[in-house]
Amino acid sequence: MDLGLTGKKAMVLGGSRGIGWFTAELLKREGAAVALCARGAEGVDAAVRKLSSIGDGAVFGDAVDLTDGAATRTFVRKGIEALGGLDILIHSASGFGLANSEEDWQRSFDVDVLAGVRAVEEALPALKESDAASITFIGSMASKFHFGRPASPYGPVKAAMRAYANELAQTHGKDGIRANVISPGAVWFPGGSWDKQKQDNPKFYAGVEKSIPLGRLGTGEELARIIVFTASPAGLWLNASHICADGGQVKAVD
Ligand SMILES: NC(=O)c1ccc[n+]([C@@H]2O[C@H](COP(=O)([O-])OP(=O)(O)OC[C@H]3O[C@@H](n4cnc5c(N)ncnc54)[C@H](OP(=O)(O)O)[C@@H]3O)[C@@H](O)[C@H]2O)c1
Repeated sequence: MDLGLTGKKAMVLGGSRGIGWFTAELLKREGAAVALCARGAEGVDAAVRKLSSIGDGAVFGDAVDLTDGAATRTFVRKGIEALGGLDILIHSASGFGLANSEEDWQRSFDVDVLAGVRAVEEALPALKESDAASITFIGSMASKFHFGRPASPYGPVKAAMRAYANELAQTHGKDGIRANVISPGAVWFPGGSWDKQKQDNPKFYAGVEKSIPLGRLGTGEELARIIVFTASPAGLWLNASHICADGGQVKAVD
C-alpha cells in the first residue's frame, strides 16, 4: 500500500529519541520531509544527521524545551518555513509526570497539553493549505485505565489531550484537517523507560510481558507504523479517533 507520503511535510515534537524518533525515521523513509525538536541539542543533531542520510526531502531540527511557549511557537514557525509548508503534525513528547506534585502537574500540562495547543495554533495556517492535513497526539493507555501507581498527572493530562484532539477534529474537519490520538501500552526500545525497567526490575518487567497476550512488549518500530499510517493520507478516514496500540495489554472491549 502506498501511504501517499512522498513529498509530504511532517513535524515531530519530541523526535530525537523513542517513539518520536522511530516515527520521524519512518516518515523520512516513506518520502516525507521532516522537522523535529527535543531539548537535547546533541540528540537533535544526531537525529538530523541520520534523517539527512535517508532518501530525499528537507530535514530541520532544533533544540527546544516544549515547556517554553515562545520557543515552541518559534520552532513550529521555523520548521514550517524550512520545509516549505506542513501536512502532518505529531506530538510525541511528554512531561512524564508520575509524582503527585505541583511541579509534575505543571510540567505535564505544559508539555503534553499546552505545547500541543501552541504548536497547533502556529501550524493551522499551513495545515489549512495542505490537501492531506493531520494532527496526531501520542497519548497513553493511562488516559483510560488506572495502572496501580499512586495518583499522578500522567493519565489525566493524556485524557485532556484526547478531549482536545476531538475538539480539533470537530472544528477543523471543514478545513480538511484530521486529529487523532494513538495511545501506546508498554513499548520497549533500547535506552527507553521499559529498557531501564528490564535492567533494574527484571521481575516486574517479566510480569508485564506475561500480562500482554502476545507475551512481549511492543516495539518502537511497531508503534511508528501505526502512527505513520494514521497520520498519512492512507489513514484519511480516521478522524477524532482514539487508537489503543497496546497489543491487548489492557483487557477491555473498547
Ligand atoms: N514508551 C512507552 O512505553 C510509552 C507508553 C505509553 C505512552 N507513551 C507515550 O509515547 C510518547 C513517547 O514516549 P517515549 O517513551 O518514546 O519517550 P522518550 O524515549 O523519553 O522520548 C521522548 C522524546 O521527547 C523529547 N522531549 C521530552 N521532553 C521534552 C520537552 N520538554 N521539550 C522537548 N522535547 C522533549 C525527548 O528528548 P529530550 O529529552 O532531549 O528533550 C525525546 O526526543 C510519550 O508521549 C509517552 O507518554 C510511551
